[in-house]
Amino acid sequence: MAKRILVSKMLKTNLMHNNPTLAKYIPLTKRLKRDLLSSMLDQHGMVYVKPDQGSQGNGVIRIEKINRSYRYQNGLQIFTFTTFNSMYASLRKHFNHKKYIIQKGIHLLKHKGRPFDFRVMIQRNPKRKWECTGTLGRLAHPGKAVTNGSQGGTIYDPSLLLSPLIQTRTSAVLRHMNRLAHLTASQLSQTHPQLNELGLDIAIDRSLKPWILEVNTSPDAGPFSLLPNPKIIRTIVAYGKIYGKHHRSSCTKAKKAPGSSRG
Ligand SMILES: Nc1ncnc2c1ncn2[C@@H]1O[C@H](COP(=O)(O)OP(=O)(O)O)[C@@H](O)[C@H]1O
Ligand SMILES: [Mg+2]
Repeated sequence: MAKRILVSKMLKTNLMHNNPTLAKYIPLTKRLKRDLLSSMLDQHGMVYVKPDQGSQGNGVIRIEKINRSYRYQNGLQIFTFTTFNSMYASLRKHFNHKKYIIQKGIHLLKHKGRPFDFRVMIQRNPKRKWECTGTLGRLAHPGKAVTNGSQGGTIYDPSLLLSPLIQTRTSAVLRHMNRLAHLTASQLSQTHPQLNELGLDIAIDRSLKPWILEVNTSPDAGPFSLLPNPKIIRTIVAYGKIYGKHHRSSCTKAKKAPGSSRG
């Protein structure tokens, strides 16, 4: 198997920041430091702390400062504190990775009270040009602060999640996300031309602005097999084959949206 490249979330963020357009769509992201966490909570009210080299939502913690109390959520558990010091003492017990990053929290759109975000797949096509091959919506497991399928998230056709909220502008939002995927692919492949595929996690905030939460350099195709349109997973798998990647065309971890029959 090819060596995994660009695993560090911080490194990917820094590379993307070299493109000034792209930089506007990345929430403020820094290496975790105690004082920075405190000041970012004062400033933004909500932040996410994540392992720099994590995946599948493991170890991703949402932290909030509400009035003068602090609260963090890890998995289904929520902990509340009256001081920053007591919160941080508890929080650091969860730190079992080497490096962590801190990112400004984005208030995700919600469907039936549960937050959702999107995964955009972009791949090199048979002509070696970057092409967006699929977008899916991921609805968080009830009571969780992460949308990952492996954390109990449910896969939706993106329009189904967006259209009740914004009606006519659904396709504009989807096009905007595709543009960001193309900018990201061009930017990262400047320094890493061996890249063939990327999976972008994109949140849409309440003003409909997209935010790139992270970019996966070895994205899982499986969840795309849960979309109603079977052509999407077929294309993803076919393009993968051309550059020597074997993608699974089934999914075991994420849930399928109710009533979304295939074919
Ligand atoms: N800055 C953020 N604002 C809001 N939600 C976030 C933020 N960062 C992460 N999340 C939530 O946590 C999930 C996992 O975070 P992500 O950065 O994608 O790490 P992983 O590599 O573990 O998937 C995201 O899909 C999203 O639902
Ligand atoms: Mg992710």
